[in-house]
Parts: sequence; C-alpha cells; structure tokens
Amino acid sequence: MIDQFKRNIDYIRISVTDRCNLRCIYCIPEGGVRLVPHESILTYEEWIRLCQYLAKLGIKKVKITGGEPLVRKNLPFLIGELTKIKGIEQVTLTTNGVLLKEQMKDIAKAGLNAVNVSLDTLSKGEFAALTRFDVLHQVLDGVEEALKYPSIRVKLNCVPLKSYNDKAGILNMASFAREHNLHVRFIEIMPLGYGREVIGYAEEEIKEFIGSEFGELIPFKEEIGNGPSHYYSLKGFQGKIGFISAVSHQFCDNCNRIRLTSEGFLKNCLQYASGVNLRELLRNGTSDSEIMEAIKSSIYGKPKRHTFDQTLKHIEQDKRIMSQIGG
Ligand code: GTP
Ligand code: 5AD
Ligand code: SF4
Repeated sequence: MIDQFKRNIDYIRISVTDRCNLRCIYCIPEGGVRLVPHESILTYEEWIRLCQYLAKLGIKKVKITGGEPLVRKNLPFLIGELTKIKGIEQVTLTTNGVLLKEQMKDIAKAGLNAVNVSLDTLSKGEFAALTRFDVLHQVLDGVEEALKYPSIRVKLNCVPLKSYNDKAGILNMASFAREHNLHVRFIEIMPLGYGREVIGYAEEEIKEFIGSEFGELIPFKEEIGNGPSHYYSLKGFQGKIGFISAVSHQFCDNCNRIRLTSEGFLKNCLQYASGVNLRELLRNGTSDSEIMEAIKSSIYGKPKRHTFDQTLKHIEQDKRIMSQIGG
C-alpha cells in the first residue's frame, strides 16, 4: 500500500495487550494506568482476521508488541497463526524479556523470526529503580535463552537516560554486542506520554562515548530488521551498534509502518490520534471489503511526519501512553 506521500507501507505493529509486568518510569506511572477492559481487547481470532486483510493489502511484516506481549496467554498460538498467513514474511516480537526464558522454546517453535528485548541498563540497582521491579536477572536469562536459537535474530533496545546511565553504563551496554551475537540499539527518548518527564542521551553523545573507547564506528549499509534503526560495525564486535533517533535524525520520510492498539484502533502515526476504529467494524458486521477500504483510506492519509518539536500544533496529539500504543 502506498500512502499520500508515496511511502510503501508493509509493516504493522500490533499491541496485543496494554498490560505490562514492569513500570518503566518513562512509560507507566507507579500506580499503573486505567486498563482497557478485557472485552475491548481484540481476541486472537480478531487479530488473525485483521492480519489477513492487511496481508491482502500488502503488509509483509508483523511486529508483536504490548504493553508486554508475553503476559498475554498462549502467545505462541497467535505467532504460529500469523506466520501461516499468505503474504506475511516475518513475525517478530518486542518484549521486556522478563518472561522470555520460560516462553522462548514455544515462541521459537511457533516460527518467530526475531526478538527485541528492551534493556536500558545492566546495573541491577538502576534497573530496579528504572523499571520499579528487581528482575534484571530474569531479563538476562531471557536474552541468554534467546541466543540459543540461531534462526532467531536478537537485538537489545536501550533507552539511555541521564539519571540512570553514565558513560560507563553505556559502554557496558555497548560491549554486550562485543561479547554476544546480538545487536545493541540505543534509542533516543521520544517526548510522548511520560517520556516528556525524563532526559535521555542524544545519538551523537553515545557515539562519542563508544568511539573513544572502542574505536571507529563504521556505517553498516545493509538492512537489519524492518525498523528505523541505522547501524555501525565496530572492530572486534560480534553484533552491530544501532541508533533509533526519532528526535535528532527524523526518519518519517522512510516510514513503512502503521500500528494497531490492543483495542483494534488503527493508528497511522505514532504521535497523532488519527486512525480508524477497526474493532467496531469487526464487531458490527461490516463486510470484508468495507473493512479493507477503511484500512486503505486510513493508510493513504498517514501524516507526513511527527512534530515532536511542536511546529504543527493544530494536529491532535494522541493522549495514549507508550504501553497503550506499543512503541
Ligand atoms: P526491527 O528493527 O525490525 O526489530 O523493528 P523496530 O526497531 O521497529 O522495533 P522495536 O519494536 O524494537 O522498536 C524500537 C524503537 O523504535 C521503539 O522505541 C519504538 O518506539 C521506536 N519506533 C518504532 N517505530 C517507530 C516509528 O514509526 N516512529 C518512531 N518515532 N519511533 C518508532
Ligand atoms: N521513547 C523512546 N522509546 C520508548 N520506548 C517506550 N517509551 C519510549 C519513548 N518515550 C521503548 C521501550 C521499548 C520499545 C518498544 O519502546 O523501551 O524498547
Ligand atoms: Fe512495560 Fe515496555 Fe512500558 Fe517498560 S517500556 S513499562 S517494559 S511497556
């Protein structure tokens, strides 16, 4: 599907639940947020139906996100069914890793192609302060388990924050890609939801730290995955170092994606409230062709770019927080 700015949209992010077993300070407040009622969350049958429509319209890659997707029961079933849909070439998962160790075997068997684990610090104390749960060991066990499956590409997502990560902490994180067969991506914090209340590092700062310790960052031109990250090779490293810098290196011109919230709302851009309520259409007997038309028209109208710099104040911003959108 091609949007009004001639971008090819072939990637959907589906947030299968808004629930999460962590409370990262930039994502969810300590007391939690009002949860979507169970009956409003799409069933697996509904996700499968939507993904069938989407595949017919040209979607080739599905990313499963949350909240935390692994808190949803029987996720391997959904993964398995999505991989069977004609036209879907890749099904990938982004998780906080807490439940990964116990579920990795079933996920792999279901045919998952790649897993991204969110891990912002390797310090036990900082991890507990940042996520409000003392479970770093579980996440590390999950990563170790994932690395046992050579067919599944593993990446770490690190959102480095000034109050929780110093230069040494960031170098520690980077060296994870030297010691292990995985890629480490540094993500600039985006001013969405509670992300407005913290201060992160910019790409250039991280590059300076890494370059001064590990030598030249050599731009890596091949694509790894389907997302907005750009990568560098480093001498002696097994994996690459990537950057997702929505603020300092806006990537909207190459955007290839749309999102579905756990309630089945198709969001055509991360930042804005614009989109269409597909759950309503699914549940009120709307025909297949009309639902596909609604999807097509929403994709066509995808906004040109995010305006985290607030230059386009007239466009309605989404009030959802990150755990409700899925990142
Ligand atoms: P792969 O590289 O294929 O694994 O995909 P990905 O990088 O898109 O996946 P992931 O779920 O790991 O997302 C990593 C980060 O990119 C998260 O912080 C997301 O919020 C951010 N991100 C993903 N898509 C977009 C987007 O369209 N716009 C912006 N601004 N950020 C995005
Ligand atoms: N800015 C950037 N990344 C974010 N994530 C959550 N909130 C934000 C934000 N405001 C990241 C998580 C996870 C991914 C899905 O999104 O850390 O790695
Ligand atoms: Fe949960 Fe991910 Fe939000 Fe952390 S960033 S609270 S792991 S949804």
